[in-house]
Amino acid sequence: MLQNTWNATLYEGKHAFVWKYGEDLLNLLSPQPGEKILDVGCGTGQLTAKIAENGAIVTSIDADAAMVEKAKLNYPNLEFTVADARSFQFDIEFDAVFSNATLHWIPEAEAVINSIYCALKPGGRFIAEFGGKGNVKLITDALYQALEIKSPLSWYFPSIGEYTTLLEKQGFDVSYAVLFDRPTPLPDGEAGLRNWLTMFASRFFANSTQQEVIKTVEEQLKPILYKDGTWTADYRRLRIVAMRES
Ligand code: BEZ
Repeated sequence: MLQNTWNATLYEGKHAFVWKYGEDLLNLLSPQPGEKILDVGCGTGQLTAKIAENGAIVTSIDADAAMVEKAKLNYPNLEFTVADARSFQFDIEFDAVFSNATLHWIPEAEAVINSIYCALKPGGRFIAEFGGKGNVKLITDALYQALEIKSPLSWYFPSIGEYTTLLEKQGFDVSYAVLFDRPTPLPDGEAGLRNWLTMFASRFFANSTQQEVIKTVEEQLKPILYKDGTWTADYRRLRIVAMRES
């Protein structure tokens, strides 16, 4: 998995939109009291807490220890564990697996889908949203150009066809898949894009060039993505509902 250096404080302080938008996905999950639900990529725990509000029994994992530590501090009564989405295993079977804004970090999609399938009981549901084909393309193109990277190292932003094919191959019945533009205003005015790049693209930067690269990307994108004092990121989401066949 590509490693990012996560800063849990910057994440919570300036990127609350990640879980605020995710609240919409909870309607698709529709957690019921007593249901066992696994949250894959829980970050600092806000959506886990929302899932638990109705009486569902939630287990949450995230690959980043700093995020899990912060989630435990935020919600000491909930269960958070450091685990890799490509290889986690649990002794219990879940009624549902939920994942918001996580799966685009993991190019090994087949391994992740296999872990999720094995964690679900037959008939269990998988509800996910993450970056789909074309996600943040303006930003990543400018970033790769500034870094003079020819073939993007990058994130995993599949099309509907690509991802649903993998799900069906594993044994999921896909009932809903949609790819939609979701222009996302970044908080903090002029610093918005800089914060975003610092938070999410830190693995691309050698410390010595970080400020220079960010400035180049800002200059290139300002005429397109900066308006009335706000940066807007060109997010494109892939949203999925699938069921584990028996
Ligand atoms: C996303 O949520 O789509 C995303 C976040 C950070 C980097 C790339 C994509």
